[in-house]
Amino acid sequence: MLEYFDPIKDLGTKAILSETMIALEVDGVSISVPEGTSVLRAAALLDINIPKLCATDSLDAFGSCRLCAVQIEGRRGYPASCTTPVSEGMQVTTQTKKLAKLRRNVMELYISDHPLDCLTCPANGDCELQDMAGAVGLREVRYGFEGENHLSAEKDHSNPYFSFDPSKCIVCSRCVRACEEVQGTFALTIDGRGFDSKVAAGKDQDFIDSDCVSCGACVQACPTSTLMEKSVIDSGQPEHSVVTTCAYCGVGCSFEAQMKGDQVIRMVPYKGGEANQGHSCVKGRFAFGYATHKDRIKEPMIRDSIDLPWRAVSWEDAFSFAADKIKKIQAQHGRESVGGITSSRCTNEETFLVQKLIRSAFGNNNTDTCARVCHSPTGFGLKTTLGESAGTQTFESIRQADSIVVIGANPTDAHPVFGSLMRRRLREGASLIVIDPREIDLLKTPHLNQAIHLQLRPGTNVSLINALANVIVNENLLDTDFIAERCDTAAFNTWKDFISQAENSPETSETITGVSAEKVREAARVYAKAANGAIFYGLGVTEHSQGSTMVMGIANLALATGNLGREGVGVNPLRGQNNVQGSCDMGSFPHELPGYQHVSDKSVRDKFEAVWKVKIDHEPGLRIPNMFDAAINGNFKGMYVQGEDIAQSDPNTQHVEKALRSLDCLIVQDIFLNETAKFAHVLLPGSTFLEKDGTFTNAERRINRVRKVMPPIAGLADWEVTLGLSKALGYEMHYDHPSEIMDEIALLTPSFTGVNYDKLEELGSIQWPCNDEHPLGTPTMHVTDFPIGKGNFALTTFIPTQERSTRRLPLLLTTGRILSQYNVGAQTRRTDNMAWHSEDVLELHPHDAQERGIKEGDWLGITSRAGNTVLRAKISERMQPGVVYTTFHHPGSGANVITTDNSDWATNCPEYKVTAVQVEKVSQPSSWQKAFQISDKKQQKMLRDPQQMDASE
Ligand code: SF4
Ligand code: SF4
Ligand code: SF4
Ligand code: FES
Repeated sequence: MLEYFDPIKDLGTKAILSETMIALEVDGVSISVPEGTSVLRAAALLDINIPKLCATDSLDAFGSCRLCAVQIEGRRGYPASCTTPVSEGMQVTTQTKKLAKLRRNVMELYISDHPLDCLTCPANGDCELQDMAGAVGLREVRYGFEGENHLSAEKDHSNPYFSFDPSKCIVCSRCVRACEEVQGTFALTIDGRGFDSKVAAGKDQDFIDSDCVSCGACVQACPTSTLMEKSVIDSGQPEHSVVTTCAYCGVGCSFEAQMKGDQVIRMVPYKGGEANQGHSCVKGRFAFGYATHKDRIKEPMIRDSIDLPWRAVSWEDAFSFAADKIKKIQAQHGRESVGGITSSRCTNEETFLVQKLIRSAFGNNNTDTCARVCHSPTGFGLKTTLGESAGTQTFESIRQADSIVVIGANPTDAHPVFGSLMRRRLREGASLIVIDPREIDLLKTPHLNQAIHLQLRPGTNVSLINALANVIVNENLLDTDFIAERCDTAAFNTWKDFISQAENSPETSETITGVSAEKVREAARVYAKAANGAIFYGLGVTEHSQGSTMVMGIANLALATGNLGREGVGVNPLRGQNNVQGSCDMGSFPHELPGYQHVSDKSVRDKFEAVWKVKIDHEPGLRIPNMFDAAINGNFKGMYVQGEDIAQSDPNTQHVEKALRSLDCLIVQDIFLNETAKFAHVLLPGSTFLEKDGTFTNAERRINRVRKVMPPIAGLADWEVTLGLSKALGYEMHYDHPSEIMDEIALLTPSFTGVNYDKLEELGSIQWPCNDEHPLGTPTMHVTDFPIGKGNFALTTFIPTQERSTRRLPLLLTTGRILSQYNVGAQTRRTDNMAWHSEDVLELHPHDAQERGIKEGDWLGITSRAGNTVLRAKISERMQPGVVYTTFHHPGSGANVITTDNSDWATNCPEYKVTAVQVEKVSQPSSWQKAFQISDKKQQKMLRDPQQMDASE
């Protein structure tokens, strides 16, 4: 069979999946292609390149430009090859004098209304219009340029990243179709008719004021320089490119970093990337400027106290300063008095090294990762029920889903490229069930079919999932064959007895969740009766006191309905950060070595000890919250934090700050002076994803290559920094390249034994498990059995959180993310993404606002039992009365000053999603915010101006 997908060449129209092959001849050359393929694509597969303008292989064919006309034996006229499907025995001719004339005429009309400024145009050399003019041999334009034209149409520069110059537009509508078909936003239209037709954003607004979310799909699709990256306009066309992986979210999009020397000119989504297939969002596509931002830490720095100015030193001096301090602490306070935190933004190889350093050089298991505060319940819940701590599907699998359940996730903001794929499936007719206290944007998807929103009260997830299961059991919607064949019978029977009890009925649940029993019944039927039901969930599931219980409740639902082990179904955690799956896989947790192998298992330790040549502690170490408590109690004195801003991202900020202040040595490795670094004694410059080699693992378990496109700004990549520190601590590790680290990972991790860099080059990416049994990886998990043999139904008794609204604190605060910002915002706040979200605000329902006399934009004091902060009001119908919402992208907002240290019973994952608060109008920042501003100013000054800093200031 011919190549189905070409990552480089534009084959003109989309690939068609069909078993039936059709044979035809193009210019006398035979070819067989799947039924439904266009003539244009069949020819392109033979390297017969028919001129085209309105067609591109990421979009449905449109047939407007007529440039792709061909002759077909037995047919009259000159059909457009992009909209003509192949048929058996078809004889196509692509080059005749008549066709050449026809195409020249078409081009002539286009060019007669187009500026003739090719030599100074930013697209010069990368313009399909220019190419096609050459391809059809256009040499003159007979119509002159004097008549009516669009040459003086006004430009729109409102978007920070791309310009719109309508004078260059040929109204091919590729941009409009890209916005609809690929992105699913429908922000663009063709306004007017005939000569007056033009591309319009929103209601003929500037791009920045329209619904445009700046994904860049239209820019990518535009065959002219009408829609063009400003970076290309400013710096010229790139000269070379390197394929790498986005370092923002867990979708793991592949990009071509298009370069001029060491300068990134633009990031272009890579068609060959299996997670994104040529699509992108505003972060990966445009927000890369932070990598060269002036705030980057460029030299290692040390200081004896956090109240003293920093001293810039050599790498060697920084390593020995840090190592001396750690050794002294351990000599005085014991081996367990130090620990470290790995990064979910760094590569697998780097994370592996940090936990190895902690286990080998520190000699304990005091390692943890930010997944503690996001997806640790996923690990516990999925391992207990399905036997593996990971999502079960590929993203692409959603194309087969008939019912899509989204629980506590906001894919269009937090996982935008997957959100677009989801929207595409919803437009194709899949039904949608959203379980969320807020009305998320997915519910506003244009051309949505059936949508059910179960708008529950925060903190009541488990009651709702139990009620859904109750309906499935009581209405006999179970997949009894799947249960009999694939699940543990005793566990199922116990669960069935439990779940059918009245306490789990939709009626009882209604009194807890606020969602009507009837709606729950309807949703349960839609999910259970669908041929394929797929569940996707996010931090709105895990970040609760019953996060692990809820994950198990979700897995129970999938087991009960047989929605596992094939395409279109499954249980899929949407991972927040780029490598949160990888950081968990790589042994970041205190109880597990890489590959989720428990430290108490002697045979596992023997294996690692033989390779690492050290004794590994058999006791699990401290989790992050335990490290904080131990620090405050004086038993924990030293910490190595790589690429993680715990001072901003962890709950109960004042508690975290107290813990960090208690440390004798805090080593922070980061690209900026983040909030945690303000409490540090050693600051080691980090490197961005552009400055190193390695791999990230996305939410589909897909291991993607990260490739170095520029040298590390401070001289060393993150993995090299860990090697230097480890050596100074007396435990030397030898690797010349991250590929050697991956070889060691493969040696020690059963699910990675078949992974190596050569195979990654060959296959593009690999979904683990990849081993002898699955040499090419595993796109769909649990096809024939579970790693624990049979699927295990878990009992999921609903226990209300202690964090409840009271008379004093009558509202419930829940938190989340926004499209343009990422996590603690350290990267995106240093880009033009600030145009969309320059501050965190508090969203509240008009009813709650009115009750308190609050108007849009008022300053609001928000008080919880942990603390208080001040944010501006945003009045929004998306909230239900009694529930307020904010994001945590700006450190000065203090969102985590108010979140409490309640946490998941099994994993200590903080309950970010439920905080009882009161809200009132205020006129000045909170005392924490005032103190933050003073401290920030002081720390920035100590960093930038160490010589003149007065230590007593
Ligand atoms: S802006 Fe570009 S893609 Fe859109 S209609 Fe004009 S030329 Fe075509
Ligand atoms: S950038 Fe994306 S959302 Fe905005 S108009 Fe273009 S395709 Fe639509
Ligand atoms: S969806 Fe995620 S991985 Fe893809 S470009 Fe956006 S931030 Fe990057
Ligand atoms: S490319 Fe076929 S009509 Fe435009």
